[in-house]
Amino acid sequence: MAHSEPPLEDLSALERDGLQAVESASTLDELERVRVRFLGRKDGLVLTLLRQLGDLALEDRPAVGAAANRVKERLQSATDAREELLGQTVGTSGRAHDLTLPSRNRWVGGRHPVTQVVDDLVGIFRTLGFTLSKGPEAETEWYNFQALNTPLDHPAADEQDTLYLKGGHLLRSHTSPVQVRTLERSKPPIRILAPGMVYRRDSYDATHTPAFMQLEGLAVDEGITFVDLKATLSEFARRFWGPGTRVRFRPSFFPFTEPSAEVDVKRVYRTEEGKEAETDWIEIMGAGMVDPAVLEASGIDSERYTGFAFGMGPGRIALLRYGIPDLRLFFENDVRFLEQFSRS
Ligand code: PHE
Repeated sequence: MAHSEPPLEDLSALERDGLQAVESASTLDELERVRVRFLGRKDGLVLTLLRQLGDLALEDRPAVGAAANRVKERLQSATDAREELLGQTVGTSGRAHDLTLPSRNRWVGGRHPVTQVVDDLVGIFRTLGFTLSKGPEAETEWYNFQALNTPLDHPAADEQDTLYLKGGHLLRSHTSPVQVRTLERSKPPIRILAPGMVYRRDSYDATHTPAFMQLEGLAVDEGITFVDLKATLSEFARRFWGPGTRVRFRPSFFPFTEPSAEVDVKRVYRTEEGKEAETDWIEIMGAGMVDPAVLEASGIDSERYTGFAFGMGPGRIALLRYGIPDLRLFFENDVRFLEQFSRS
């Protein structure tokens, strides 16, 4: 009996250590190391202890042997149970998930700031009788240039140099081709708005990006004059920026409008001291009366119908609205920037 005390004590200590090690293993790899250390066939601690049975007095061997086998079985079943648990919660990284970590906030998406501006612009023009339309981003030269009264060797075509695709298509350099597509398939009265991406061979800096959003507008009917253009765009500007907004039309040139204008706005704002102040004149769009050549090219009788068109850059307008210094921020998908604009 005297010899049997130490092995039994060793055995219960071994069992306690083993169970503890199994419970604290947090990955399958760690658990495997614990299994090898305690239950390994070569020099696992349980077997090493069993091998010492030979040193025991003959009558003690059965009791110690049976106790050792029970320890072995308990460790084995604890290991199996732990393995099943870890197997359920282990992710692809091989590490167990820490179920005590605080949960993450639920992700709430939002509309891109430029999309928000487009939606607001469209909302205002909808109340003025315009409906939404769209055209392809991969266009033909005909729709992008010639049908818009722009011969390919005209300097205005150089300003809108773009990427050519296989099969005779190009990336449209403005949304004006939608004017032609609309005129071809519908009869006046026409009032449409066409938002969409356009592409140009341009630099990528704070004020230029080779891809950007445009919003095209077109109205064609009997008796439409420049007064309608001025009234519509002035009304739009005052609804978008506030009643004190001033609008200026500067003579300009576009091959597909005649006469043509650049439209500037001057906005009223409050200074930090609460005083009323006005911004500089800021250019927001190109516009004009649809050139009769464009109407005729689309089969519309230019003696009977007239119209106006305009094209603006919602990206620019978003810069102004939010005081953003750099257009590139709109394209970088930086969540820290974008989440400032999430609104329902
Ligand atoms: N398409 C012109 C541009 O991108 C803008 C414009 C549209 C001008 C409609 C007049 C009428 O520069």
